[in-house]
Amino acid sequence: MLIELNQIDMKYNKGQENEVHALKQASLSVEQGDFVGLVGASGSGKTTFLQIIGGMIRPTGGDYFFDGMNVRAMKDSQLARFRNQKIGYVLQDYGLLRDRNVLENVCLPMMFSHMKWHDVENRAMELLTELHIDHLKARRVNQLSGGQSQLVAVARALAMNPPVILADEPTGSLDSNTSAHLMESLIKLNNAGTTILMVTHNEEISRQCKRIVRIRDGRLLAE
Ligand SMILES: Nc1ncnc2c1ncn2[C@@H]1O[C@H](COP(=O)(O)OP(=O)(O)OP(=O)(O)O)[C@@H](O)[C@H]1O
Ligand SMILES: [Mg+2]
Repeated sequence: MLIELNQIDMKYNKGQENEVHALKQASLSVEQGDFVGLVGASGSGKTTFLQIIGGMIRPTGGDYFFDGMNVRAMKDSQLARFRNQKIGYVLQDYGLLRDRNVLENVCLPMMFSHMKWHDVENRAMELLTELHIDHLKARRVNQLSGGQSQLVAVARALAMNPPVILADEPTGSLDSNTSAHLMESLIKLNNAGTTILMVTHNEEISRQCKRIVRIRDGRLLAE
């Protein structure tokens, strides 16, 4: 199993009066090559769950193994390397550097690798072309539309060619044609072996996933 989550528990502000119990005994196994759709109401814990899988936040309970590695036991520096090398994450609010241009944003994760600049730039342009936003390469992010920003966030997540892509509603700001094109790109990657977990509210999108995991009030429902 590539991803093994066992009884994951997440309490924000644990022990304080503003504590929020966002995930309760969440267990999930995902094998390499899977394409999981994560579905649930607003506030049900989808982003929290994805951020734990991506190593962006640490759960307050449970076990998490990634390809046999104990993620909960990792030091911060190990966790940072794990995120950079294993996970491509499309944030719900894009998380782009707004005063940098499109190309710089997509190149960013590769700046922490040993890639040559020439290869970094080629890879970034390849992704911008695939997503039909190559004409925007020199545009500053704060001058993009929401949908264009979302595609830049996807390109940045794919830059390192990660084995796992975690996408928090990656089609949320896209029109139906662009959204269908993005799904084609993701399915192509998935067919080549990339494991994908994706939050979606869209029925048509979720139907294209191999599995649907439903979450309600912090609990994963039986599939
Ligand atoms: N940093 C935080 N501190 C405190 N509570 C938080 C924090 N982030 C999320 N929460 C709470 O945890 C619960 C789950 O939030 P989460 O963002 O995971 O929901 P979601 O399913 O992604 O919702 P949406 O569909 O609106 O994006 C909510 O009650 C939310 O208010
Ligand atoms: Mg969310």
